Amino acid sequence: TKENLGLPVGTTLDRFIKRKQDDFPYATGELSQLLRDIALAGKIINREITRCGLINLAGAFGATNVQGEEQQKLDVVANIRFIRALRNGGEVCAIISEEDEGIIDLENPNGKYVVAMDPLDGSSNIDVNVSIGTIFSIYRRKSAPGGPITDEDVLQKGSEQVAAGYLLYGTSSILVYTTGYGVNGFTYEPSLGEFFLSHQSLKSPEDGKIYSVNEGSYNTFEPAVKEYIEYCKSREFSGRYIGSLVADFHRNLMKGGIYFYPASAKAPNGKLRLVYECNALAFIAEQAGGAATDGHQRILDITPTKLHQRTPLFIGSKKMVEQAGHFFKQAT
Ligand code: AHG
Ligand code: MN
Ligand code: MN
Ligand code: MN
Repeated sequence: TKENLGLPVGTTLDRFIKRKQDDFPYATGELSQLLRDIALAGKIINREITRCGLINLAGAFGATNVQGEEQQKLDVVANIRFIRALRNGGEVCAIISEEDEGIIDLENPNGKYVVAMDPLDGSSNIDVNVSIGTIFSIYRRKSAPGGPITDEDVLQKGSEQVAAGYLLYGTSSILVYTTGYGVNGFTYEPSLGEFFLSHQSLKSPEDGKIYSVNEGSYNTFEPAVKEYIEYCKSREFSGRYIGSLVADFHRNLMKGGIYFYPASAKAPNGKLRLVYECNALAFIAEQAGGAATDGHQRILDITPTKLHQRTPLFIGSKKMVEQAGHFFKQAT
């Protein structure tokens, strides 16, 4: 099947992408090239992160982004590196980024794809040597080439993604992605500068015993969320919260668990952004047999109306996400 290529662990990312492409007789190779461009951007960002403490790249950049967050130097560097790699790669016509208010039009009429990205996720963890990540979604351009980029290009539902993934810069760095035929993970070997297949056909445990939420906001969560947290405690689940969505998501994907960032008084729609954080991870979660909702509906079914729109997120092992949903249903 297209999902299980039977490629051995240790296959390089390049070879894997090539083999996948060969399975689609009419594929032009453009998506394959785009995935390689993203992997290259990931290598560059990995390099910057690894040496950031030594070359004065840690700390605040001195500006705030459209979300009103203080940008870190590495947020800005990762954003620039990513945009440059996608521009040079030539497959992309437009980029949506957490760090840029508007659409980044690459003025490339040949680019068939639109990329939405969180260049650096978990940036409050940069200065303290804790895992951070990069998140990306790939969509097909809908408007006619050569014309302006339209809302219909950049405000697509998550279910329209052609590929999505993340890079996690952790104890080792890993690239995890899906093109809609299962999920595969590639661990980075820095001395060779290559990603190698390490996690083939990743499957999320159906159920789990880890819950990940910032409980500091407990008092301002809605009753259904408080009840679900009490439920987790009554079962003596482990509380684990890194504060980097990618890292929390990845751990739960490997071990079984749920991550949630609900609405609170401070953040009435939660904090996480639908277009470049939630959709990619929701696609991966579902492809791995897990689930992702906003508490009520599937994340991938939400039609975005704004680039930087926020949504509550409940994501991870299927049974746990369903269980959380029950508390919302009871409340209505
Ligand atoms: P980013 O660094 O891209 O702005 O994202 C930060 C997000 C996410 O990674 C994390 O799970 C969440 O913010 C943590 O927020 P709290 O500190 O409010 O828990
Ligand atoms: Mn941010
Ligand atoms: Mn983020
Ligand atoms: Mn970010």
